[in-house]
Amino acid sequence: MKNILIAYYSHSGNTKKIAEKIQEKTNADIFRIEPVKKYPNDYRELVNLAQKEKLANFHPELKSKLDDISKYDIIFIGTPVWWYTMASPVRTFIKEYNLENKIVAPFCTHGGGGEASTFEEFSKFLPKSRVINGLSLYETPDNKTDEKIEEWIKPILNN
Ligand SMILES: Cc1cc2nc3c(=O)[nH]c(=O)nc-3n(C[C@H](O)[C@H](O)[C@H](O)COP(=O)(O)O)c2cc1C
Repeated sequence: MKNILIAYYSHSGNTKKIAEKIQEKTNADIFRIEPVKKYPNDYRELVNLAQKEKLANFHPELKSKLDDISKYDIIFIGTPVWWYTMASPVRTFIKEYNLENKIVAPFCTHGGGGEASTFEEFSKFLPKSRVINGLSLYETPDNKTDEKIEEWIKPILNN
C-alpha cells in the first residue's frame, strides 16, 4: 500500500472541494495549507496583493505544520490559480518540505483561464520529484468533475 497525502490551499473553497473529493476516493491523509497572515476577503485587494507576491516571488509563512512528510510516497498538491500560477502559500509549501523522489500530483481550480503556468512551475520548482501531469478544473464542479478526478487518479495510484 502506498502512503498518500493531499495538501491543498484554498481561499474561497473551490480547491478544498476537489481536495475532499480526492480524499473520498483515496482515503489519503489530508492537510490544509494555511498562511499565518490571512489574505483579505475583498477580491480587489486580494488580486492586487497576490500579484505583488507573485512578482516578488514571496513565500508567506505557513501556520500549520506537517509532522512527517517522509512517510508519504504520493503527494497530491492543490492550489487555486492565482495570476496564471500557484497561490503563494503553495509556493511556500513546496519549498518548505522535502519532496525529493516523491510522486507529486498537482491539481488546480481556475476561473476560466485554465492552469496556465501552474504545472510547469511545479516541475520547475521540484526538479527532484516525479511531477505527474496535473488536473485542472473550472472553479464550479459539474457532472463530469467526479469522472475527471477518477480518470486522473487511477494511473497515479497504480504507479
Ligand atoms: C488573486 C487571484 C488571482 C486569480 N488569477 C486567476 C488566473 O490567473 N486565471 C484564472 O483562470 N483564474 C484566476 N483566479 C480565479 C481562481 O483561480 C478561482 O476562482 C479558484 O477556483 C479559486 O479557488 P479557491 O476557492 O480554492 O480559492 C484568480 C483568483 C484570485 C483570488
